[in-house]
Amino acid sequence: MNGFQSALHPAGPQALHIERLIWLFTGISAFVLLAVTVALLWAVFRRRERRDLAAEPRPPELRERRLGRVVGAAVALTVVLLFVLLTASFATDRRLLDLEGREQLTVHVIGHQWWWEIRYAHGEPARRVITANELHIPVGVPVRIELTSPDVIHSFWVPNLHGKQDLIPGSSNAITIEADRPGTYRGQCAEFCGLQHAFMAFLVVAEPEETFDAWYERQLAPAREPGNDQARRGREVFLRSACVMCHRIRGTSASATYGPDLTHLKSRQILAAGAVPDTRGHLAAWIADPQGIKPGARMPITALPPPDFQALLAYLETLE
Ligand code: CUA
Repeated sequence: MNGFQSALHPAGPQALHIERLIWLFTGISAFVLLAVTVALLWAVFRRRERRDLAAEPRPPELRERRLGRVVGAAVALTVVLLFVLLTASFATDRRLLDLEGREQLTVHVIGHQWWWEIRYAHGEPARRVITANELHIPVGVPVRIELTSPDVIHSFWVPNLHGKQDLIPGSSNAITIEADRPGTYRGQCAEFCGLQHAFMAFLVVAEPEETFDAWYERQLAPAREPGNDQARRGREVFLRSACVMCHRIRGTSASATYGPDLTHLKSRQILAAGAVPDTRGHLAAWIADPQGIKPGARMPITALPPPDFQALLAYLETLE
């Protein structure tokens, strides 16, 4: 997908400032590379020419003076270019700071090995929504993302929206993002945090405010009552299996918070923090053999007789 996870396809004001800085750095670096290459080639070929002509060598004072001028000009140009980069870097930082402090929505994002917990407390009084690996934000609204980690250092990075911000155990960090057009952008943990660092991804879904509000209402609701016998049986299987040691499904007695909240599991597009898409087949594979999909993941194997397994799957499919 074009620009799905790319700092060169900015989808908000913060990312736009960063993209401009990237192009300025790239442009100046390309110019320096070109200048050095040209100077090098010139030095190489000029020598040959002179050997061919067997011309009278220039007096040493003259050569030294000329060399001094060339070196002086190169040093001056280097200082100027570095100063331009320094100034641009500071100016971009200042512009990013200016975009903070206008947030209308705060989301708490917690980095776990290896998935993202996402907590909203929207409205007055606060109506809480907890989800995982899929951050929804309304378009045109500055959103403050508060970042914490209970285990190791992670880094929150959505290149289309902003730069990186670390999640540090024992401390709280924040970043302000804003999407100026609807879209789905991929985010990725950008700090090595263990075996499955690469599969610690998430999606940011930027949508018009009404769509976001509708999504929020759906997330607030407890899990729907299963519509058929197999799904009802699946719920019983779930509630007496080891699943309840880690997961919560609101509307049932499962209320653990160690793993992702599954109340609206099927409303999400990815499983296992982006390791696989959220389809029935992948969900079955994930439950049957999580270590085969994501070695090292904290999810244990759930061994069930096939009829129970199918029932469990049928139940999880109802969690929309
Ligand atoms: Cu979390 Cu890398």
